[in-house]
Amino acid sequence: MKNFHDLFIHELSDIYSAELQIDKALPELIKKAHSKELKEALHKNHLETKKQIKRLDEIADELNVNLEGKKCDAIENILREGHKFLLAHFPHEISDAAIISSAQRVEHYEISVYGTLKSFAKHLELKNPEKLLNETFEEEENADKTLNNIAYGTLFSKGINKEAARKTA
Ligand SMILES: [Fe+2]
Repeated sequence: MKNFHDLFIHELSDIYSAELQIDKALPELIKKAHSKELKEALHKNHLETKKQIKRLDEIADELNVNLEGKKCDAIENILREGHKFLLAHFPHEISDAAIISSAQRVEHYEISVYGTLKSFAKHLELKNPEKLLNETFEEEENADKTLNNIAYGTLFSKGINKEAARKTA
């Protein structure tokens, strides 16, 4: 790695691997989620993940680079930690709270990486990659907000965390 552009490509490869791992992990999370709201949010997240992988493919084509071959250990470990909860036999509400906890860790990692990447693209004057990375960044932020609403509740719903707390009372 010699310059800022190389660092940009390195970070792109990292998130590419992360997205591929997330794409693979989501079907099981969707299956194990109990709340309809959570299932729907994760399903939307899965569709968006596929779009986000396509955006990264488009960037790789435009810059004529290969993003394959690097493994994102951070996401691998976050997903592995989350998987432990799936194997435990919690009541439904607690299991859903655990799924949200893991999914939000993933979102925060992605928000952090895409935030960095869109700034890198801007300073490297890569207009189309910057636009694509920003689209993904906004999707990740919205996905995180949706999960927050499901966990904490809104004016219209109680929130999984409240339900989970009542289970242990
Ligand atoms: Fe993503």
